[in-house]
Amino acid sequence: MTQAELVVVANRLPVDRVVGAVGEEAWRRSPGGLVTALEPVMRRADGAWVGWAGQPDLDVEPFEFEGTFLVPVRLSAEEIENYYEGFSNDTIWPLYHDVIAAPRYRRVWWDSYVRVNRRFAEAAAEAAAPDATVWVQDYQLQLVPQMLRELRPDLTIGYFHHIPFPAYGLYSQLPWRRQVLDGLLGADVIGFQRVADAGNFARAVRRVHHYTTKASGITVPLEDGTTRTALAKAFPISIDTAGYVELAERPDIQARAAEIRESLGNPRAILLGVDRLDYTKGIRHRMKAFGELLEDGRVSVEDATLVQVASPSRERVESYVQLRDEIELAVGRINGDYDTMGHTAIRYLHQAFPREEMVALFLAADVMLVTALRDGMNLVAKEYVATRTDNRGVLVLSEFAGAADELASAVRINPHDIDGMKDAIMRAIDMPPAEQGRRMRALRKKVLENDVARWSQSFLDALESTRRAKRENGAVA
Ligand code: G6P
Repeated sequence: MTQAELVVVANRLPVDRVVGAVGEEAWRRSPGGLVTALEPVMRRADGAWVGWAGQPDLDVEPFEFEGTFLVPVRLSAEEIENYYEGFSNDTIWPLYHDVIAAPRYRRVWWDSYVRVNRRFAEAAAEAAAPDATVWVQDYQLQLVPQMLRELRPDLTIGYFHHIPFPAYGLYSQLPWRRQVLDGLLGADVIGFQRVADAGNFARAVRRVHHYTTKASGITVPLEDGTTRTALAKAFPISIDTAGYVELAERPDIQARAAEIRESLGNPRAILLGVDRLDYTKGIRHRMKAFGELLEDGRVSVEDATLVQVASPSRERVESYVQLRDEIELAVGRINGDYDTMGHTAIRYLHQAFPREEMVALFLAADVMLVTALRDGMNLVAKEYVATRTDNRGVLVLSEFAGAADELASAVRINPHDIDGMKDAIMRAIDMPPAEQGRRMRALRKKVLENDVARWSQSFLDALESTRRAKRENGAVA
């Protein structure tokens, strides 16, 4: 097998498997932002990507795809249930999102998580050239850095955590809190979305292990009595800003935006929510606020329509099944009470759309509602801002989304405060164009300056510095 200088390890491969009419197999690039972000870097480095192909019991040999070597990791149906749906998405996901849903601690899930993490680590160890760089992604693979370091001490290992890292009072619930910290500390650089996440991680390490931390450095003792330094730092992720601007400027997409407005009966204001159907996103809170505005008579369906795109996600996990029922009940009730023949209160779409259609929706929307109860970053907020080349539109943004650290000129809300959210929505609907322009220009500046290429470059630069430091120390010793 060819060995790569840069190996990305993520739960999912950057491609989706599509089976044609006569059963022929093909691979299509997945729409995710991370994929776009890493594509140029991977091409330059002749990189490899280790990940799951998204289906059970699929045996696929490593293959070349658009300049990247893809290494599929096989997961059985049982492992999908225990490692992915169980430990990753019913233990870690709710725990790390401040227990919005109750995390479930099941030992069989943990055992599966350990086994599957080892499989990813072994695949990465095999795919990496001597002294290569390996970049592990996200909470599904927290044990991989340490496992990989044991297998291949020559490697430089980075880990990026895309979701929040909780305060110790919550983290300490985890029965395997020590093992998970050790897993992560196997990396040379551990990246987080917010400064607060890196701080929570360092605090957990101090509380559990009593290791010393200084600025971003954590001193990790080694078996031979020496120490090494792991860096835990914020690297806020972003989007392919130029790609979004390009789509926003396409006449056919602008025409589609006008068509969307028209088909909604040209309400005075279109409010938009775009989320994976997830309980962290505050979709119910948003609908409650909008429903009450209709009830109070502060808006009518002629004034405002809420378009809610809720893309299907993790549909076999119980808390997601329940959430879908609750949301669909709320939509049905609100629409039943307020719809007219020509206007709807909420246009609800439990579907995923291509990027072109999403940009048309962003262009059609006067107000973007990002009301997450907890969110690592929330890239939808940045996507909306990037597409508003006309400097119009209002972003209503939860202070519990990582994006709030950078996007200070948004209308900020606490989604738990329904009255506050109602006032913020009214303020957004009624905002004069001059104020919209002032805020949007400031927001756009942030998103144009910090795009995802810059994010990946700064992370890889940090990794490269640790590699150089290691080499120099090694030479001295
Ligand atoms: C979040 C996570 C990602 C994950 C994505 C989609 O953004 O941080 O790691 O891939 O959700 O979730 P899924 O479970 O479908 O991979």
